[in-house]
Amino acid sequence: MDSYSIGYANIALIKYWGKKSKDPVLPYNPNLSLRLDKLYTKTKIEKSESGQDEFYINDERQGADELKKIITFVNKFTPENREKIKIISYNTVPTAAGLSSSSSGTMALVLACNEYFRLEKSTEDLVKIAKEGSGSSCRSFYKMASWLEDGSVHEIKCDLDLAMMVLVVNEGRKKISSRKAMEDCVQTSSSYADWVKQARQDYKAILDALAKNDFTKIGKLTESNALAMHSTTKYANPPFSFLEEDSYLAMDIVKSLRSKGLEAYFTMDAGPNVKVLYLKENQKKIYEEILKVWKKKIILCTE
Ligand code: DP6
Repeated sequence: MDSYSIGYANIALIKYWGKKSKDPVLPYNPNLSLRLDKLYTKTKIEKSESGQDEFYINDERQGADELKKIITFVNKFTPENREKIKIISYNTVPTAAGLSSSSSGTMALVLACNEYFRLEKSTEDLVKIAKEGSGSSCRSFYKMASWLEDGSVHEIKCDLDLAMMVLVVNEGRKKISSRKAMEDCVQTSSSYADWVKQARQDYKAILDALAKNDFTKIGKLTESNALAMHSTTKYANPPFSFLEEDSYLAMDIVKSLRSKGLEAYFTMDAGPNVKVLYLKENQKKIYEEILKVWKKKIILCTE
């Protein structure tokens, strides 16, 4: 039977950036995300014919490092004497480009294992398992979700029809993984303590703005939180940046939309691509305006 499990990408409005504990994985600050239903990974598991575990993304067999990473995770929650498997994944999200392919990939993998090995876990258990694979993936199980410092994951209600598009600056694999980058920032960035303080305040403020349907405040917090996260990389030792020249161009375009009365806000993750947050009702106008000045690829992420 051709049954794939689907995992969705999510983009944080308030970022998870640093682990307070690795086992179990606990974030330093509460974080909150929006799920992007058009960016997903589909995964199925079959019995391996080669007698070895195998892992494919978009029909491409993955090398030893990628295989080891995924199998170490799979072994944490599947039967000890399991048979060798072939993991077959397809990404609509460019892999490892800071477009949250790890959150969609991990969610799809956890669901596929649950199905193949008949683990019969509850959603709550699957959420717990997922964050041990990739912290941010625990938020993909809900349209809007928060992940708190005590490890709990909560569904967040929102009456606004929030939507996102991605201005693709670079689809290539990022040079440094978010895991390694956040670890470097925790250990060496002189602005890390300020980040944690700021992010904790931002989280409270965004909950308030969500409760009041205050899109302007949600957008402003989203932008300033992303900039605060990226500034920790500038003060790391050695300093680094995920952003490229065109990331700055994309941010300027978003700002100029606002000066034309079109409300849109930007956010960036562990890569150069710029995600634009807006109200769905404004999508057409925003898209048309951006098309006039942005010559690279655009991905509309919400239905
Ligand atoms: C910048 O979830 O990829 O996207 O837990 O080490 O797998 P690990 O990290 P990961 O980090 C995501 C970081 C981020 C911000 C966010 O999604 O909140």
